[in-house]
Amino acid sequence: MKTLNIETATNLLHEKMKNKNLRRHCYAVGKVLHAYHDFYEREDRDVDSLSANEWEIVGLLHDSDYEITKDDWSLHTVMLLEWLKDYEVKDEMLNVFRSHNTKITNLRNPETLLEWTLECSDELTGFIVAVALVMPGKNLDEVTVERVLKRFKQKEFARAVDRSQIMQCVEKVNVPVDKFVEIALDAMKQNSELLGL
Ligand SMILES: [Fe+2]
Ligand SMILES: [Fe+2]
Repeated sequence: MKTLNIETATNLLHEKMKNKNLRRHCYAVGKVLHAYHDFYEREDRDVDSLSANEWEIVGLLHDSDYEITKDDWSLHTVMLLEWLKDYEVKDEMLNVFRSHNTKITNLRNPETLLEWTLECSDELTGFIVAVALVMPGKNLDEVTVERVLKRFKQKEFARAVDRSQIMQCVEKVNVPVDKFVEIALDAMKQNSELLGL
């Protein structure tokens, strides 16, 4: 059995996914999940007995099979779960992957704080990238929570992003939308070089 840590998870991601932008999405979700974990811990919330690094690994890997499975969405996460049979991985982490593409795979409904945080933040990271790319410097420097929230209301802007999936954070993880955006934005700013922004 192989060990799963940030390094081996990154190696697995790089082995299976070659597109730089797709990889950056995975890095972004990893970093924001790490930051949400720290936030919840400060708030004394239940983080499913997983560490911040384990939350980050979930983010790094959640779409790692996407480049290979994109023409057959029924395999998205199913293939990842196959790969992970070679690794020692906690059930709480495998469950997140089971819940990630569940509208198609029907493997598991999201339930835990991590599962719902991934569900709410997955699209948000892409939305924040879209907001950054229309700023004059085309980077995260000038992006603010207010700017992101204003763009949310503009239906024509990044119209492929399902706002309701992000807004669920209020109900599902009990964090107000502005705070939820702030945590993701700060985490992405702190990792702007990794994200190429
Ligand atoms: Fe996905
Ligand atoms: Fe994703």
